[in-house]
Amino acid sequence: MTPHIDSATLQTLLERLTEDAARCFNEGKVADYIPALAKVDPDQFGIAVCHVDGSVQYAGNARTRFSIQSISKVHALVLAMQRLESDEIWTRVGREPSGQAFNSIMQLEVENGIPRNPFINAGALVITDLLVSRIVSIQNTLREQLRRLSGSDDIGFDEKVARSEMDHKARNASLAYLMQAYGNVHADVDDVLDTYFHSCSVEMDCVELARSFAFLANRGVNPLDGKQVVTTLETRQINALLLTCGLYDAAGDFAWRVGLPGKSGVGGGIIAILPGQMSICVWSPRLDGYGNSIAGRHALEGLVAGMGLSPLG
Ligand code: DON
Repeated sequence: MTPHIDSATLQTLLERLTEDAARCFNEGKVADYIPALAKVDPDQFGIAVCHVDGSVQYAGNARTRFSIQSISKVHALVLAMQRLESDEIWTRVGREPSGQAFNSIMQLEVENGIPRNPFINAGALVITDLLVSRIVSIQNTLREQLRRLSGSDDIGFDEKVARSEMDHKARNASLAYLMQAYGNVHADVDDVLDTYFHSCSVEMDCVELARSFAFLANRGVNPLDGKQVVTTLETRQINALLLTCGLYDAAGDFAWRVGLPGKSGVGGGIIAILPGQMSICVWSPRLDGYGNSIAGRHALEGLVAGMGLSPLG
């Protein structure tokens, strides 16, 4: 599809958004509930877009790798959708926004151990349980998938971050054990947690992340190798989940301001999809109270406004 904004105008816009991002450097703080993440220099900002023809444009610290954290929940869901029957997934996890914090336990007991959606921690743990139970070397499979989608063959895990999360596992362990009590986690809880924490610890930069999500802007086809990652129907379904659940209890506000399907992580990354056009990744480590990047969200608002392109009208 022909881009609706020429590349020189887009480049100027990306650079202006990078300059403007520094204005957010007095707000919010880096995630420190995972001690290994607290060491990141908070005053960084990167932005990258990957067009549906596979070309990328970027500005700022777009080539600095960071912890992708919850953004990996989308890749885990994709692995599950590629390998399992629809019923095997959607009888174990819902497709509704939770309206609660990403690591909340409140609804789980009331709703018999079935998490609202695959992007809150409880939902991602169920997806991980499904994968751990079905795939022998799930960590390698995830890493290979990310390498293939991004075109970077040295993407890997940050063992320090994974260990730091395991050392501070109490909340995620509580979610997993409660779901096990309801029969919705089958594998050994520590195995599930170890795999989940490794997925969260993957390090990628904005360019790599934007590339790894281009298939969601391109009817399920990875523009880098022309391979179908998920069907066109699954692409629409994943984008719908991202729009309604990708930013947890800030999903409504993000849809209001930005109007794109998106997914955030406490490493400060946010990915967003402009269907038919491009995937976008922004990164800036200072977070708001919902665990979402402040400068990242501002930049996405500015990008959509500057391009005058939104799937919502
Ligand atoms: O399990 C956790 O709490 C983290 N590894 C991931 C949370 C996260 O990224 C939430 N996103 N904004």
